[in-house]
Amino acid sequence: MKAIVRYQYGSPEVLKLEEVEKPAPRDDEVLIRIHAVSINGSDREGLIGKPLYARMGGLRKPGYPILGSDIAGRVEQAGKDITQFKPGDEVFGEIPGYHGGFAEYACAPESTLARKPAGLTFEQAAAIPQGGVIALQGIREKGQARPGQQVLINGAGGSAGTFAVQLAKLYGAEVTGVDNTGKMDFLRSLGADHVIDYTKQDFTKNRKQYDLILDLIAHRSVFAYKRALKPNGTCFFVGGSVGTLFQILLLGPWIKRTTGRHLRLLVVPQNNKDLIAITELCEVGKVVPVIDRRYPFHEAPEALRYVAEGRAKGKVVIQIR
Ligand SMILES: NC(=O)c1ccc[n+]([C@@H]2O[C@H](COP(=O)([O-])OP(=O)(O)OC[C@H]3O[C@@H](n4cnc5c(N)ncnc54)[C@H](OP(=O)(O)O)[C@@H]3O)[C@@H](O)[C@H]2O)c1
Repeated sequence: MKAIVRYQYGSPEVLKLEEVEKPAPRDDEVLIRIHAVSINGSDREGLIGKPLYARMGGLRKPGYPILGSDIAGRVEQAGKDITQFKPGDEVFGEIPGYHGGFAEYACAPESTLARKPAGLTFEQAAAIPQGGVIALQGIREKGQARPGQQVLINGAGGSAGTFAVQLAKLYGAEVTGVDNTGKMDFLRSLGADHVIDYTKQDFTKNRKQYDLILDLIAHRSVFAYKRALKPNGTCFFVGGSVGTLFQILLLGPWIKRTTGRHLRLLVVPQNNKDLIAITELCEVGKVVPVIDRRYPFHEAPEALRYVAEGRAKGKVVIQIR
Protein backbone atom coordinates (compact mmCIF):
# COMPACT_ATOMS: atom_id res chain seq x y z
CA MET A 1 0.00 0.00 0.00
CA LYS A 2 1.00 3.64 -0.25
CA ALA A 3 1.79 5.54 2.94
CA ILE A 4 3.36 8.82 4.02
CA VAL A 5 6.42 7.76 6.04
CA ARG A 6 9.26 9.37 7.96
CA TYR A 7 12.35 7.79 9.54
CA GLN A 8 13.57 10.75 11.58
CA TYR A 9 12.09 13.62 13.58
CA GLY A 10 12.03 16.92 11.76
CA SER A 11 10.11 19.34 9.56
CA PRO A 12 7.53 18.19 6.97
CA GLU A 13 10.49 17.73 4.54
CA VAL A 14 11.25 14.36 6.22
CA LEU A 15 7.89 12.98 5.01
CA LYS A 16 7.84 10.80 1.88
CA LEU A 17 5.20 8.90 -0.05
CA GLU A 18 6.36 5.25 -0.21
CA GLU A 19 5.14 1.72 -0.88
CA VAL A 20 5.02 -0.20 2.40
CA GLU A 21 3.59 -3.52 3.54
CA LYS A 22 -0.18 -3.53 4.03
CA PRO A 23 -1.02 -4.24 7.70
CA ALA A 24 -2.84 -7.45 8.67
CA PRO A 25 -5.56 -7.29 11.34
CA ARG A 26 -5.18 -9.25 14.57
CA ASP A 27 -8.18 -11.27 15.78
CA ASP A 28 -9.52 -8.23 17.66
CA GLU A 29 -8.96 -5.71 14.86
CA VAL A 30 -10.50 -4.65 11.59
CA LEU A 31 -8.53 -3.69 8.51
CA ILE A 32 -9.83 -0.38 7.17
CA ARG A 33 -9.48 1.01 3.66
CA ILE A 34 -8.96 4.65 4.61
CA HIS A 35 -10.86 7.38 2.74
CA ALA A 36 -9.86 10.38 4.87
CA VAL A 37 -7.52 11.13 7.78
CA SER A 38 -7.37 14.37 9.74
CA ILE A 39 -4.37 16.06 11.34
CA ASN A 40 -4.12 16.68 15.10
CA GLY A 41 -1.63 18.41 17.37
CA SER A 42 -0.33 14.91 18.18
CA ASP A 43 0.79 14.53 14.53
CA ARG A 44 2.54 17.89 14.59
CA GLU A 45 4.29 16.88 17.83
CA GLY A 46 5.06 13.36 16.57
CA LEU A 47 6.63 14.81 13.42
CA ILE A 48 9.08 17.09 15.20
CA GLY A 49 9.50 14.93 18.33
CA LYS A 50 8.52 17.72 20.73
CA PRO A 51 7.45 17.91 23.55
CA LEU A 52 9.44 15.00 24.95
CA TYR A 53 6.35 12.77 25.34
CA ALA A 54 6.09 12.78 21.53
CA ARG A 55 9.25 10.58 21.57
CA MET A 56 7.68 7.83 23.65
CA GLY A 57 7.92 5.42 20.71
CA GLY A 58 11.62 6.20 20.16
CA LEU A 59 13.94 8.72 21.79
CA ARG A 60 16.42 9.26 18.93
CA LYS A 61 14.40 7.97 15.98
CA PRO A 62 10.61 7.58 15.63
CA GLY A 63 9.41 4.18 16.81
CA TYR A 64 6.88 4.09 13.98
CA PRO A 65 7.16 5.51 10.47
CA ILE A 66 3.53 6.47 9.77
CA LEU A 67 1.78 9.33 11.61
CA GLY A 68 -2.00 9.89 11.67
CA SER A 69 -4.65 8.71 14.11
CA ASP A 70 -8.10 10.00 13.10
CA ILE A 71 -9.40 7.96 10.19
CA ALA A 72 -12.62 7.29 8.33
CA GLY A 73 -13.06 4.54 5.78
CA ARG A 74 -14.56 1.18 4.92
CA VAL A 75 -13.93 -2.13 6.68
CA GLU A 76 -12.03 -4.41 4.32
CA GLN A 77 -11.47 -7.37 6.65
CA ALA A 78 -12.58 -8.24 10.18
CA GLY A 79 -10.57 -10.32 12.68
CA LYS A 80 -12.30 -13.40 14.07
CA ASP A 81 -13.21 -11.79 17.43
CA ILE A 82 -14.89 -8.77 15.83
CA THR A 83 -18.62 -8.65 16.55
CA GLN A 84 -19.77 -5.13 15.60
CA PHE A 85 -18.41 -4.65 12.10
CA LYS A 86 -18.19 -6.56 8.84
CA PRO A 87 -16.49 -5.94 5.51
CA GLY A 88 -18.08 -3.03 3.67
CA ASP A 89 -19.17 -1.13 6.81
CA GLU A 90 -18.31 2.57 6.90
CA VAL A 91 -16.44 3.36 10.12
CA PHE A 92 -14.38 6.10 11.71
CA GLY A 93 -12.36 6.61 14.87
CA GLU A 94 -8.90 6.70 16.39
CA ILE A 95 -5.99 4.35 15.87
CA PRO A 96 -4.47 3.32 19.25
CA GLY A 97 -1.03 4.82 19.78
CA TYR A 98 -1.87 7.75 17.48
CA HIS A 99 -0.11 6.37 14.40
CA GLY A 100 -0.65 4.51 11.14
CA GLY A 101 -3.35 6.70 9.57
CA PHE A 102 -1.46 8.48 6.78
CA ALA A 103 -1.83 5.39 4.64
CA GLU A 104 -4.23 3.55 2.37
CA TYR A 105 -4.97 0.93 5.05
CA ALA A 106 -4.77 0.71 8.85
CA CYS A 107 -5.91 -1.68 11.57
CA ALA A 108 -7.86 -0.70 14.68
CA PRO A 109 -9.84 -2.50 17.42
CA GLU A 110 -13.61 -1.98 17.52
CA SER A 111 -13.30 -0.27 20.93
CA THR A 112 -12.01 2.95 19.30
CA LEU A 113 -14.24 2.85 16.21
CA ALA A 114 -17.84 3.76 15.49
CA ARG A 115 -20.15 3.38 12.50
CA LYS A 116 -19.97 6.46 10.27
CA PRO A 117 -23.35 8.22 10.24
CA ALA A 118 -24.83 8.38 6.73
CA GLY A 119 -25.27 12.16 7.12
CA LEU A 120 -21.55 12.79 7.56
CA THR A 121 -18.95 12.55 4.79
CA PHE A 122 -15.77 10.53 5.36
CA GLU A 123 -13.92 13.83 5.70
CA GLN A 124 -16.28 15.22 8.33
CA ALA A 125 -16.15 11.94 10.25
CA ALA A 126 -12.33 11.89 10.16
CA ALA A 127 -12.30 15.43 11.58
CA ILE A 128 -14.11 14.43 14.77
CA PRO A 129 -12.36 11.73 16.86
CA GLN A 130 -9.36 12.97 18.87
CA GLY A 131 -10.28 16.66 19.08
CA GLY A 132 -13.95 15.95 19.67
CA VAL A 133 -13.36 13.41 22.43
CA ILE A 134 -10.79 15.61 24.24
CA ALA A 135 -13.25 18.53 24.13
CA LEU A 136 -16.17 16.41 25.31
CA GLN A 137 -14.16 15.17 28.29
CA GLY A 138 -12.66 18.56 29.13
CA ILE A 139 -15.81 20.66 28.77
CA ARG A 140 -18.78 18.37 29.43
CA GLU A 141 -17.79 15.15 31.22
CA LYS A 142 -14.99 16.24 33.57
CA GLY A 143 -15.33 20.02 33.14
CA GLN A 144 -19.11 20.09 33.66
CA ALA A 145 -19.38 23.54 32.08
CA ARG A 146 -22.69 25.20 32.89
CA PRO A 147 -24.58 28.46 32.37
CA GLY A 148 -23.03 31.53 33.90
CA GLN A 149 -19.55 30.05 34.16
CA GLN A 150 -16.47 31.76 32.77
CA VAL A 151 -14.62 29.21 30.62
CA LEU A 152 -11.27 29.83 28.92
CA ILE A 153 -9.84 27.59 26.22
CA ASN A 154 -6.12 27.95 25.51
CA GLY A 155 -5.28 26.77 21.99
CA ALA A 156 -8.91 27.36 21.02
CA GLY A 157 -8.38 27.55 17.25
CA GLY A 158 -6.85 24.08 16.84
CA SER A 159 -8.23 20.59 16.59
CA ALA A 160 -9.65 20.06 20.10
CA GLY A 161 -10.10 23.79 20.76
CA THR A 162 -12.69 24.35 18.03
CA PHE A 163 -14.86 21.60 19.51
CA ALA A 164 -14.27 22.91 23.04
CA VAL A 165 -15.40 26.46 22.20
CA GLN A 166 -18.60 25.16 20.62
CA LEU A 167 -19.33 22.77 23.50
CA ALA A 168 -18.73 25.39 26.19
CA LYS A 169 -21.16 27.72 24.38
CA LEU A 170 -23.66 24.89 23.95
CA TYR A 171 -23.68 24.32 27.71
CA GLY A 172 -24.25 28.00 28.44
CA ALA A 173 -20.82 29.26 29.51
CA GLU A 174 -19.28 32.62 28.70
CA VAL A 175 -16.30 31.61 26.60
CA THR A 176 -12.86 33.13 26.10
CA GLY A 177 -10.76 31.66 23.30
CA VAL A 178 -6.98 32.10 23.20
CA ASP A 179 -4.94 31.58 20.04
CA ASN A 180 -2.76 33.45 17.53
CA THR A 181 -3.55 36.75 15.77
CA GLY A 182 -4.81 35.12 12.57
CA LYS A 183 -7.47 33.10 14.41
CA MET A 184 -9.28 35.85 16.35
CA ASP A 185 -12.20 36.31 13.90
CA PHE A 186 -12.39 32.55 13.46
CA LEU A 187 -12.84 32.08 17.24
CA ARG A 188 -15.60 34.69 17.27
CA SER A 189 -17.30 32.87 14.40
CA LEU A 190 -17.30 29.70 16.52
CA GLY A 191 -19.16 31.57 19.25
CA ALA A 192 -16.36 32.78 21.56
CA ASP A 193 -17.58 35.78 23.57
CA HIS A 194 -14.03 37.04 24.16
CA VAL A 195 -10.78 36.37 22.34
CA ILE A 196 -7.17 36.77 23.44
CA ASP A 197 -4.22 36.84 21.06
CA TYR A 198 -1.48 34.90 22.81
CA THR A 199 1.20 36.74 20.87
CA LYS A 200 0.08 40.01 22.48
CA GLN A 201 -1.46 39.16 25.84
CA ASP A 202 -0.91 36.60 28.59
CA PHE A 203 -4.30 35.47 29.92
CA THR A 204 -2.79 34.73 33.33
CA LYS A 205 -1.71 38.36 33.73
CA ASN A 206 -4.88 40.30 32.92
CA ARG A 207 -6.46 40.01 36.38
CA LYS A 208 -9.38 37.96 35.06
CA GLN A 209 -10.34 34.67 36.69
CA TYR A 210 -12.15 31.68 35.26
CA ASP A 211 -14.26 28.81 36.60
CA LEU A 212 -12.84 26.39 34.06
CA ILE A 213 -9.70 26.52 31.93
CA LEU A 214 -8.98 23.88 29.30
CA ASP A 215 -5.32 24.22 28.32
CA LEU A 216 -4.43 22.34 25.16
CA ILE A 217 -0.94 23.77 24.90
CA ALA A 218 0.24 24.47 28.47
CA HIS A 219 3.61 26.07 29.12
CA ARG A 220 3.22 28.32 32.16
CA SER A 221 4.05 27.83 35.83
CA VAL A 222 1.42 26.41 38.16
CA PHE A 223 1.36 29.76 39.98
CA ALA A 224 0.30 31.57 36.81
CA TYR A 225 -2.59 29.13 36.37
CA LYS A 226 -3.57 29.49 40.02
CA ARG A 227 -3.79 33.25 39.50
CA ALA A 228 -6.14 32.82 36.53
CA LEU A 229 -8.56 30.53 38.38
CA LYS A 230 -11.46 31.52 40.62
CA PRO A 231 -11.45 29.94 44.10
CA ASN A 232 -12.75 26.41 43.52
CA GLY A 233 -12.08 26.75 39.77
CA THR A 234 -10.52 23.97 37.71
CA CYS A 235 -7.81 23.95 35.09
CA PHE A 236 -7.38 20.83 32.96
CA PHE A 237 -4.06 20.31 31.18
CA VAL A 238 -4.28 18.30 27.98
CA GLY A 239 -0.91 18.81 26.28
CA GLY A 240 2.10 21.11 26.25
CA SER A 241 5.48 21.39 27.89
CA VAL A 242 6.64 18.41 29.93
CA GLY A 243 7.97 20.82 32.60
CA THR A 244 4.50 22.29 33.14
CA LEU A 245 2.82 18.89 33.16
CA PHE A 246 5.31 17.61 35.79
CA GLN A 247 4.71 20.70 37.92
CA ILE A 248 0.98 20.03 37.82
CA LEU A 249 1.51 16.44 38.95
CA LEU A 250 3.82 17.49 41.77
CA LEU A 251 2.22 20.73 42.97
CA GLY A 252 -1.42 20.36 41.86
CA PRO A 253 -2.51 18.47 45.03
CA TRP A 254 -0.76 21.04 47.28
CA ILE A 255 -2.40 23.97 45.46
CA LYS A 256 -5.77 22.28 45.84
CA ARG A 257 -5.25 21.78 49.60
CA THR A 258 -4.03 25.30 50.21
CA THR A 259 -6.22 27.35 47.80
CA GLY A 260 -9.15 25.15 46.73
CA ARG A 261 -8.17 25.56 43.08
CA HIS A 262 -7.92 22.36 41.01
CA LEU A 263 -5.00 21.94 38.61
CA ARG A 264 -5.24 18.54 36.97
CA LEU A 265 -3.90 16.61 33.99
CA LEU A 266 -6.69 15.47 31.71
CA VAL A 267 -5.90 12.02 30.37
CA VAL A 268 -8.36 11.12 27.64
CA PRO A 269 -8.48 7.42 26.79
CA GLN A 270 -9.37 6.69 23.17
CA ASN A 271 -12.89 5.24 23.28
CA ASN A 272 -15.96 4.95 21.10
CA LYS A 273 -18.49 5.89 23.81
CA ASP A 274 -17.34 9.53 23.84
CA LEU A 275 -16.80 9.42 20.08
CA ILE A 276 -20.44 8.45 19.55
CA ALA A 277 -21.61 11.13 22.02
CA ILE A 278 -19.76 14.00 20.29
CA THR A 279 -20.74 12.68 16.85
CA GLU A 280 -24.43 12.72 17.82
CA LEU A 281 -24.05 16.45 18.55
CA CYS A 282 -22.42 16.89 15.13
CA GLU A 283 -25.22 14.99 13.38
CA VAL A 284 -27.89 17.35 14.71
CA GLY A 285 -25.75 20.42 13.98
CA LYS A 286 -25.22 21.46 17.60
CA VAL A 287 -21.48 21.13 17.04
CA VAL A 288 -19.70 21.41 13.69
CA PRO A 289 -16.45 19.64 12.76
CA VAL A 290 -14.76 22.66 11.17
CA ILE A 291 -12.60 21.70 8.19
CA ASP A 292 -10.29 24.49 7.10
CA ARG A 293 -8.57 22.73 4.20
CA ARG A 294 -8.53 19.43 2.35
CA TYR A 295 -5.35 18.06 0.72
CA PRO A 296 -4.89 15.13 -1.69
CA PHE A 297 -2.86 12.22 -0.31
CA HIS A 298 0.40 13.05 -2.10
CA GLU A 299 0.29 16.58 -0.62
CA ALA A 300 0.24 15.34 3.00
CA PRO A 301 3.63 17.01 3.75
CA GLU A 302 2.12 20.31 2.56
CA ALA A 303 -0.90 19.72 4.82
CA LEU A 304 1.36 19.20 7.84
CA ARG A 305 3.37 22.27 6.92
CA TYR A 306 0.17 24.34 6.86
CA VAL A 307 -0.72 23.07 10.35
CA ALA A 308 2.84 23.47 11.69
CA GLU A 309 2.99 27.07 10.48
CA GLY A 310 0.06 27.90 12.71
CA ARG A 311 -2.34 28.72 9.92
CA ALA A 312 -4.94 25.97 10.28
CA LYS A 313 -8.27 27.08 11.67
CA GLY A 314 -9.82 23.93 13.06
CA LYS A 315 -9.12 20.74 11.13
CA VAL A 316 -7.06 19.87 8.07
CA VAL A 317 -8.09 16.68 6.30
CA ILE A 318 -6.10 14.50 3.91
CA GLN A 319 -8.16 12.72 1.26
CA ILE A 320 -6.74 9.26 0.77
CA ARG A 321 -9.22 8.10 -1.92
N1 LIG B 1 -4.29 14.28 27.44
C1 LIG B 1 -4.58 13.37 26.53
O1 LIG B 1 -5.08 12.29 26.84
C2 LIG B 1 -4.31 13.69 25.09
C3 LIG B 1 -4.76 12.84 24.07
C4 LIG B 1 -4.48 13.20 22.76
C5 LIG B 1 -3.80 14.37 22.45
N2 LIG B 1 -3.37 15.16 23.47
C6 LIG B 1 -2.66 16.44 23.26
O2 LIG B 1 -3.63 17.45 23.05
C7 LIG B 1 -2.90 18.61 22.63
C8 LIG B 1 -3.77 19.53 21.80
O3 LIG B 1 -4.08 18.93 20.61
P1 LIG B 1 -4.80 19.69 19.39
O4 LIG B 1 -4.95 18.58 18.40
O5 LIG B 1 -5.97 20.47 19.77
O6 LIG B 1 -3.62 20.68 18.92
P2 LIG B 1 -3.61 21.69 17.70
O7 LIG B 1 -4.62 21.33 16.69
O8 LIG B 1 -2.18 21.80 17.27
O9 LIG B 1 -4.07 23.06 18.36
C9 LIG B 1 -3.27 23.80 19.23
C10 LIG B 1 -3.64 25.27 19.05
O10 LIG B 1 -2.94 26.04 20.03
C11 LIG B 1 -2.37 27.17 19.40
N3 LIG B 1 -1.22 27.64 20.17
C12 LIG B 1 0.11 27.42 19.98
N4 LIG B 1 0.83 28.04 20.94
C13 LIG B 1 -0.04 28.64 21.74
C14 LIG B 1 0.09 29.44 22.90
N5 LIG B 1 1.29 29.73 23.42
N6 LIG B 1 -1.02 29.91 23.51
C15 LIG B 1 -2.26 29.63 22.99
N7 LIG B 1 -2.46 28.89 21.88
C16 LIG B 1 -1.36 28.39 21.27
C17 LIG B 1 -2.00 26.66 18.03
O11 LIG B 1 -1.84 27.76 17.19
P3 LIG B 1 -0.47 27.99 16.39
O12 LIG B 1 -0.92 27.54 15.09
O13 LIG B 1 -0.20 29.43 16.58
O14 LIG B 1 0.63 27.11 16.89
C18 LIG B 1 -3.23 25.82 17.69
O15 LIG B 1 -4.28 26.60 17.16
C19 LIG B 1 -1.63 18.07 21.98
O16 LIG B 1 -0.55 18.46 22.79
C20 LIG B 1 -1.80 16.55 22.05
O17 LIG B 1 -0.59 15.83 22.26
C21 LIG B 1 -3.61 14.85 24.78
